[in-house]
Amino acid sequence: MSSNFSHPVRVLEVIDTAPGRSLRERLRLRLTEPPTLRALEVRIGMLAMSILPADLLQMRGQYGLQPALPYVPGHEGVAVVLEAGPGVSDIQPGDRVLPMGVGGLWADERVVKRRSLVAVAAEADLLQQAMLTANPATAWILLRHERPVQAGQWVIQNAANSAVGQCVRQIADHLGLQVLNVVRRPEAIEAHSKALWLVDEGQDPQAFRRRVRDLIGAESPVLALDAIGGRATSCLAASLADSGRLVSYGLLSAEPAQVAAHDLIFRGIEMRGFWLARWFADPAHREAAREVYPALMKLVHQSALHMQVEKVYDLDQWAEALAHAARPHRGGKVLLSGRHCPPA
Ligand SMILES: NC(=O)c1ccc[n+]([C@@H]2O[C@H](COP(=O)([O-])OP(=O)(O)OC[C@H]3O[C@@H](n4cnc5c(N)ncnc54)[C@H](OP(=O)(O)O)[C@@H]3O)[C@@H](O)[C@H]2O)c1
Repeated sequence: MSSNFSHPVRVLEVIDTAPGRSLRERLRLRLTEPPTLRALEVRIGMLAMSILPADLLQMRGQYGLQPALPYVPGHEGVAVVLEAGPGVSDIQPGDRVLPMGVGGLWADERVVKRRSLVAVAAEADLLQQAMLTANPATAWILLRHERPVQAGQWVIQNAANSAVGQCVRQIADHLGLQVLNVVRRPEAIEAHSKALWLVDEGQDPQAFRRRVRDLIGAESPVLALDAIGGRATSCLAASLADSGRLVSYGLLSAEPAQVAAHDLIFRGIEMRGFWLARWFADPAHREAAREVYPALMKLVHQSALHMQVEKVYDLDQWAEALAHAARPHRGGKVLLSGRHCPPA
């Protein structure tokens, strides 16, 4: 890549979301001038940025929010402050920050409003901080605010080796809840884990319910967290206690979430959808929202919250990184690193 700019920054752009496009037809890496800094704004240098299923859905045109083309993707990451604009005095160059609620993070540098930055400890694990905004917050809210779950009661979740699944397990430990973890392959079970696991072998919902009973007895789960859809949803619903709640928060199978009418009508199972963006935008959640990130940062600093990382790629290797992130059976998250990331 050549450039006519004195201090070029790399920016990844989505240029086409039509079905059937290859990665290199969908995206391009561009060199551009650093963005201009105005009052109450801060120039940040991206350190590490995670690649979320939501990013992959959005670049295929299948997400709940589709920016106009071309757009810079990337919903979460951690950055260092490079320069504070006029009127910003409470944040200094060198401070580490999380950009919140701003897209377009897959770039070397961004200029963002001061109010969208949350300062984080410069000595904490950088990659864990880069993954903090979406998945841990989802796990926290699902467990704390979807349905009251008392200490000792059971929660059941599928895709339990995902980053959300890891966070659900660790946050539930912190809250004293019990979790039954469903995965689709035995190798996904965490080695040395004290948690309870169940490998989904594609059985029908009633057979699945019996296996859950065999594992945990008559105290059926009161909350089920579904990231998959299709048959997997009906299995979780069938395993719930009467009046239990099923929350659909992911569409990994791309199939409609199915629940037997029998479970809805005769057993009073409630079913809801959850989207983090909608939850934070709801004024009714303003107070609860304030506690989410401080609580999560505390858990990270106590090493009580830790997500697996499979590989970090430099922004130049974006195509390899995105192909890797889209592959099944990973051992953890795939991240991108920007120019300001310190060498590993
Ligand atoms: N609603 C919200 O606001 C919200 C917020 C955050 C995340 N999410 C959703 O939460 C889900 C997990 O995200 P993540 O970042 O934690 O994922 P991740 O770490 O990338 O892990 C992906 C997981 O999905 C499993 N999986 C993929 N395709 C599957 C399929 N067809 N059937 C069953 N399992 C499948 C994988 O299993 P293997 O390891 O066996 O391949 C793995 O456990 C995603 O759907 C994401 O969009 C939703």
